[in-house]
Amino acid sequence: MAELFKKLEGISICVFDAYGTLFDMASPVARQQSILGEKAADVAKLWRAKQLEYTWVRSLIGVHADFWKVTREALDFTLEALAISEAGLPDELMTDVLKLDMYSDVLLALQALRTKGKRLAILSNGSPSMLDSLVRHAGLEKIFEQVLSVEDVGIYKPSRRVYRLAMQKFSIHDAPSVCFVSANGWDAHSAAQFGFQAVRLKRSIVPDDRLPGILSAVVTSLDQLVDLV
Ligand code: LAC
Repeated sequence: MAELFKKLEGISICVFDAYGTLFDMASPVARQQSILGEKAADVAKLWRAKQLEYTWVRSLIGVHADFWKVTREALDFTLEALAISEAGLPDELMTDVLKLDMYSDVLLALQALRTKGKRLAILSNGSPSMLDSLVRHAGLEKIFEQVLSVEDVGIYKPSRRVYRLAMQKFSIHDAPSVCFVSANGWDAHSAAQFGFQAVRLKRSIVPDDRLPGILSAVVTSLDQLVDLV
């Protein structure tokens, strides 16, 4: 059952976060389990945490670099911090960032939303070429009307400029007609604060974030979303 606060009314567009929501950012590390052994879980966790930290710091100090560079810098930090110096490993991990596993609930839910007449988009920190690779690898090219990257505005989430980009690209003025879906709590709350109807996807058991922005719903898988919009 969806942890439903209210059924979302008036939604014409569903906008999805990418990393952690549609695609599993931990999958490159899982593919290197035999090399990383018991350090694998720590690599996945620290890499993701540093990747996000670097986006926030760069946005605050006004020194933008694209998500490919930020992801590589976060990886280099992570491997050094965990004393991992396997030759060739960083390049292999980065190559796999372009071919992340799609979560198993994504395809059917997106197809069902399309059948309901919803317009679908991705709005992500990823660079255009990273997102293009992910969408192609997952075979989602025909599902999304727009695949939007923060590179269009040169600052990362949760800048309001990023959420505004979705409205500009769809040529709409009515933020609540957008359902924004993210497994990243801070992203969902920020989108809600911006004015979207935001749905937090809980892919794991985590506490609710104590952040501004009132969520419209919390779901534990994307099939629950289909009934809400
Ligand atoms: C993204 C990160 C936040 O896809 O997961 O934008």
